[in-house]
Amino acid sequence: MSRLFLPLALALSLCAGPSHAQLMRRATPSHRGRLQRALREALAKVTAQRVLFVEETLRASYEAFPKDAKGNLPPHQALPALARAYFAKEHGWLVRGLEPPGAPIIAPGETYQAAKAPKERGAGDLYAVHALEDKAPELAAALKEAALSPVTRAAGLSLADVAQAVAALEQILLEESVTLVREAYVLNGLETDMQRLPGSIPEDQALEVLLSYLLLFRNGVPIDMTNATKHRLIKERARKTVLWLPMKRFVDEALEGSEGERSWAEVKEATMQMAKQFGRWQNSECEEMRSTLRKMEHAPGRVRLEDFHGSPKFTNYQFTEKEDYLQQAGILEEKAGERSVLIANYLLGASNCIASSEYFSVCCLNECEVLVNQFEAAVQAPGAPVSQVMQVARELNASAVDELADAADESQVVVWHTAGFRHWLHRAFPYQCPRPTASEDQALQAELAEAQEWMKMDEAARQKWKPLVVHPSECTRLPQWHEEEEEATHGVVELEV
Ligand SMILES: *[C@@H]1O[C@H](CO)[C@@H](O)[C@H](O)[C@H]1NC(C)=O
Ligand SMILES: *[C@@H]1O[C@H](CO)[C@@H](O)[C@H](O)[C@H]1NC(C)=O
Repeated sequence: MSRLFLPLALALSLCAGPSHAQLMRRATPSHRGRLQRALREALAKVTAQRVLFVEETLRASYEAFPKDAKGNLPPHQALPALARAYFAKEHGWLVRGLEPPGAPIIAPGETYQAAKAPKERGAGDLYAVHALEDKAPELAAALKEAALSPVTRAAGLSLADVAQAVAALEQILLEESVTLVREAYVLNGLETDMQRLPGSIPEDQALEVLLSYLLLFRNGVPIDMTNATKHRLIKERARKTVLWLPMKRFVDEALEGSEGERSWAEVKEATMQMAKQFGRWQNSECEEMRSTLRKMEHAPGRVRLEDFHGSPKFTNYQFTEKEDYLQQAGILEEKAGERSVLIANYLLGASNCIASSEYFSVCCLNECEVLVNQFEAAVQAPGAPVSQVMQVARELNASAVDELADAADESQVVVWHTAGFRHWLHRAFPYQCPRPTASEDQALQAELAEAQEWMKMDEAARQKWKPLVVHPSECTRLPQWHEEEEEATHGVVELEV
């Protein structure tokens, strides 16, 4: 499989960025050393096995990103995009500071009704992640320095760099759970002093502590850590719901493996495991919502707004999200005078993030990223000829396979990191893949523009791809999806700042 088609594809489908790139050889910048020192420090508590797992999970996406001749990714757009996709599909985590471009932001303790989508906000970045700023400021600073350096002076990122940064952040977020479970000891009257590490407790008490932890995590911040009476009442109420049995099973599984008394180390280990599994565990609720919505649909992946808000036939869920939220979040589609809720966009929206800490929320797992990975893994390049992509699409039972031709450029190549491919994914998998918003389209274009600039600066890559060097006059018109998009977003109300 030749990779030569890529720069051509970029040249034809994009034509953004400077037309005369500087042909300088990149020096190894000093900020690379700083970043690697900060990563080593942040990774002190992460096992090599976990870093390897993250690396393997990221590999297909990494291979699918445009790279220079040394195999390094462009430094600015790739890292946050890869990290965001990893957390969304592995854990369903929406990490504060790393939010997708243009998405409404829900602050800790707020409901979706308070969500605001700032007008000019681009995508979040890894260096802006609140948890890194607070818990690993040196890593945040090193990432920021790397991210803000001009492309011409920046160091590229290897797969190992990306995996280490993601694994370090994952660990920091998992450790948040440890604070919460210590609060659970206190609320259960087993400890009074948060400064002291908890002692060993009998198995049944460990079960109660972890159930409390799960309730605290599930209900999200702000958490009243001082009122044990109130916590006991909440727990008693939860005990009578259908949720209790699955919660108990989840805790039992995490505690399995040892007998009798549980030391603090064992409870901590069980907590970390639960935090790691939580996204997958709670996703069954998302599956139920998806099938409820499918029963109401009037077109593939679409439910009329009136049906969404008011069908008495479907009583499992009350869909109460207001119109302005649905519109802000890109969930509402207006077409031919009819307003519909897009099922995939709705499920991934912030209003379905049921648990939250100060640093992240747990949302429905992003199954679209899993599908994208299957395309990437089948091809292991930034794109592929349309006939090959069609074959992968058929194996994945995609609908609208023929429409892939619209997502291809004039040389019949489909490039993953383009709005055209993302819009096709939505047509092909309307229950898993959200329709990209205008901000997301822009972010994809910025990603590709950077990749193009990055490769043009690389002398070796340039020589390799000499026959395909971009010339401004070869710029094509905007791809077809763009015209369609104009119509679809027409009439959407301007968001408040
Ligand atoms: C604790 O919560 C209970 C039940 O909600 C309430 O009646 C009580 O006043 C609270 N105590 C304090 C000290 O806030
Ligand atoms: C595609 O559909 C066939 C037949 O319904 C099924 O056997 C197969 O598992 C499906 N493949 C995927 C990837 O869903």
